[in-house]
Amino acid sequence: MNEMEVCLDVETGAPFALNTAGTAAHTAVFAQTGAGKSFLLGRYLEEILLKTRARVVILDPNADFLRFGQPSNQNDSQFADAWERIPLTLLSNRSGDLGGSAHQAVHRVALDWSRLSPTEQCRYLGFVTPLDYQEYITVAIINRVAGMQRETYSLNDFLTTLRALRDHRRRPDNVDSNPLAGMPDDIDWDLLPENSLLKVFTEAFKLAELQVWPDSQDSRSVDDVVHEFTSPNSDQRLLILDLPSLDYEHAQAMLADRAVELLWANARANWLDAVMRPPQEDPRVPIFIVIDEAHNLVPPDTTGAIEASVKARVTRIAAEGRKYGLFLILLTQRPSRISYDILSQVENLFLLKLTNRIDLEFIQRSFGSLEPDMVSKAAELGLGQFLLSGRVTSRPALLKGLPRRTEEGGRSIRADVWIRSETLSTP
Ligand SMILES: Nc1ncnc2c1ncn2[C@@H]1O[C@H](COP(=O)(O)OP(=O)(O)OP(=O)(O)O)[C@@H](O)[C@H]1O
Ligand SMILES: [Mg+2]
Repeated sequence: MNEMEVCLDVETGAPFALNTAGTAAHTAVFAQTGAGKSFLLGRYLEEILLKTRARVVILDPNADFLRFGQPSNQNDSQFADAWERIPLTLLSNRSGDLGGSAHQAVHRVALDWSRLSPTEQCRYLGFVTPLDYQEYITVAIINRVAGMQRETYSLNDFLTTLRALRDHRRRPDNVDSNPLAGMPDDIDWDLLPENSLLKVFTEAFKLAELQVWPDSQDSRSVDDVVHEFTSPNSDQRLLILDLPSLDYEHAQAMLADRAVELLWANARANWLDAVMRPPQEDPRVPIFIVIDEAHNLVPPDTTGAIEASVKARVTRIAAEGRKYGLFLILLTQRPSRISYDILSQVENLFLLKLTNRIDLEFIQRSFGSLEPDMVSKAAELGLGQFLLSGRVTSRPALLKGLPRRTEEGGRSIRADVWIRSETLSTP
């Protein structure tokens, strides 16, 4: 078997082989800031992509993987040659050259309004079912009217339909501008009170200002991208969602929510298809979903409706994703700030330097596979060192990560820029 070269045994300095099959489990990477999580993850994902057929989706909140497609050392031609054969898609709304190349497709992010259910649309518009039931009905009717006129429609088309319905509501006798002409005659006007139309219009107008709707030839619908990515016959291996390239947290949350939902729905559809065939004809491969800064996306308590939806969807994957081939890789500085429903399903743990006592005690209580005296060692680990336990290793071990061979993104401030080499002379 093709062994994953990720780390060395700290005691002996010898390469430490990971159990490749054991990577197909939910995994957590814990460490305080700056201890090397993203660096180690980079190496781990490089090896997964080179040594297996698995696919990887990264929800990247820090642009750490913006340059993941680029080898960091062009002199390492063996790595560069292999790496540049891995097809990758970067969804980003940044302007400027993002390194599109033969192996790296770059697209602007676009959500597909008409493929969202009315419930999802209401969630993104800020309406909560069942409380805002009138707005829900209004949204559902507008969709129906907009959908009668065209097969797919944008948020702007939705707004145009809404305006036409308002006009019609005000001047029902004006048959020329009747948006309901040709519609089945079963729409009850009382279900569309004027104030609901106004509320939906206001929220939809605000939503249309976010840069997540198709705005250029380069835009690609997240629905299409994820569908292609998850298709069993696809040659796609890596999908990176550049979350901070979207201007508002609301837009980032919508993208994360939609992407996670589509990954789930497509993986489930592939599973339904696979169970109808003999096992030897099951072409599916694992899909790893990497969530960095997981305490933001899946905290124990959520405040907004979209955040709650993302968390519910990730929790479902944590509990039931295995049979669909979906595996989480969660990174955080604060393990105790991740939903326990999700953490309780984690099998593999990479624990780098972590000194916070509350978090160390939490890990001790939550991960039986690590002895308490091992967990306490986490406070003294050096850069890149980590404790590993779970299915990915034959025994809990103290290891040191090998260097990442791809460009780091994120970027820290540079000491050579801000620390003066000479003392300022006084006049
Ligand atoms: N094993 C290593 N060898 C050399 N340099 C490393 C190693 N691990 C990390 N670094 C460097 O240390 C810095 C911090 O690493 P990294 O960004 O991976 O930390 P992090 O744990 O992800 O931090 P944060 O929680 O703030 O995202 C980076 O500049 C990285 O290049
Ligand atoms: Mg990081």
